Amino acid sequence: MYNRELVAKKGAQLILECGEQRHSVPVYSQEGLEMVAGLWTKLSTQYRLMYEPTWMGIPIIQTPGDVLMMQELIWRLRPDFIVECGLAHGGSAVCYASVCELAGKGRVIGVDVEVRQYNRVALRSHPMAHRIELIEASSVELSTVAEVERRVAGSKTVMVVLDSNHSHQHVRKELELYHRLVTPGSYLVVMDGAQAHVWDIPSGKPEWKDDHPLKAIREFLDEHREFCPDDYYTRLHVTSCPDGFLRRRPAGEVSS
Ligand SMILES: C[S@@+](CC[C@H](N)C(=O)[O-])C[C@H]1O[C@@H](n2cnc3c(N)ncnc32)[C@H](O)[C@@H]1O
Repeated sequence: MYNRELVAKKGAQLILECGEQRHSVPVYSQEGLEMVAGLWTKLSTQYRLMYEPTWMGIPIIQTPGDVLMMQELIWRLRPDFIVECGLAHGGSAVCYASVCELAGKGRVIGVDVEVRQYNRVALRSHPMAHRIELIEASSVELSTVAEVERRVAGSKTVMVVLDSNHSHQHVRKELELYHRLVTPGSYLVVMDGAQAHVWDIPSGKPEWKDDHPLKAIREFLDEHREFCPDDYYTRLHVTSCPDGFLRRRPAGEVSS
């Protein structure tokens, strides 16, 4: 906690100085809100805060607001399947499965190139295990996509979450391979587009400036008019997935 009194009355300014650059915006403005959210993204990444939370005992590598938004989305859609590329410890899979459990339907298919033994054991013995299926393979192998496709075949509502390798090329491939599985009205969620905004932090990598999921999202949206970003799910401003909640429009809604 900041242990000095934060006085910020009407008219207060936020001033960010970096080398020759100086930005000044009113604290109580849309720009002020966006600047603070952007800075929080940089600071929370620098201090690795997304590695702190757990969900029902399992580490979940997410920004808290995104977890809340995923809960809203899953509760609203009541999907039959949520395909998650990039499982890690499995905290998100457990989280999504727990919302499915309360909704009374739905399963999560977690795909990861490496499912460590201790994670597999923890997930197998977890109270949500009956709603989670694992596939240990690269998400971009055609055989992996075929296996996922086989499992979700015939389902009314399928959601896909991409949260594996965050390079532009990898996400581009995943988008091409997995978008077909998303049923009309459902969502393709692309995590970590915020990599584009953290290349400059002390622990960031300069190559992230041009190599990030947002670039893949923009290219994908240019070619796939049937998908559009839904800002409703990034309305908390602090998010790891700017423009990452992509809704598949039902056929009648798509204009040429
Ligand atoms: C950011 S973590 C996923 C975090 C997880 N979704 C969560 O919310 O806790 C990225 C994961 O992607 C996996 N990964 C990397 N490349 C992959 C690939 N080609 N196919 C599938 N998974 C991959 C890594 O092994 C790692 O576990």
